[in-house]
Amino acid sequence: MREVTVGDKNFELFIDADTLAERVRVLGQQINSDFADKKPLFLVLLKGAYVFASDLIKHFEHECTISFFRLSSYRGMESSGELMLLDAFGTEIQDRHVIVVEDIVDTGNTLSAFLPALTSVGPASVQVVSLLSKPEVLQGKIHIDYLGFEIPPAFVVGYGLDYNEAGRNFPAIYQLKK
Ligand code: IMP
Repeated sequence: MREVTVGDKNFELFIDADTLAERVRVLGQQINSDFADKKPLFLVLLKGAYVFASDLIKHFEHECTISFFRLSSYRGMESSGELMLLDAFGTEIQDRHVIVVEDIVDTGNTLSAFLPALTSVGPASVQVVSLLSKPEVLQGKIHIDYLGFEIPPAFVVGYGLDYNEAGRNFPAIYQLKK
């Protein structure tokens, strides 16, 4: 599909499924060799990153575990609140090599709030993999260890990303039509 409609908005094809698959394969193979002997924990930020994570971890050929994390509200959240959420997921983070899987780093506020809380639980290491990043709107500094694509600051849907909860199902990424 060259164009899709989600809610009241029209979107046009931006990154096709083959291009996504090839980039995800490269990222997956890098992680595969970097974490070969580390038994990493893939910590997937819901909901947007679930499609990307699903494809990414198929390229990991060694022992690993996967867990999911939902940040329903990140603005103004106390770090103690975030720690409670980490515990609530029952995930053993302490001493683990954690790979945070994110769909898109936009302003960076989500990861700015999440990463310090994660680090305070005592993981052996924390690395970030994000499919997309919009460097022009990034506030502050977020280090992305494995990045799929840098994109301009237009709104995108598909491949897990939503507009008002819809549009996650498309196999490609679509950009808001001007
Ligand atoms: P940040 O906190 O501003 O970096 O935003 C991160 C979150 O906002 C992502 O995990 C997405 O859920 C959402 N987001 C940011 N930009 C987009 C977009 O273009 N399309 C869909 N969701 C987005």
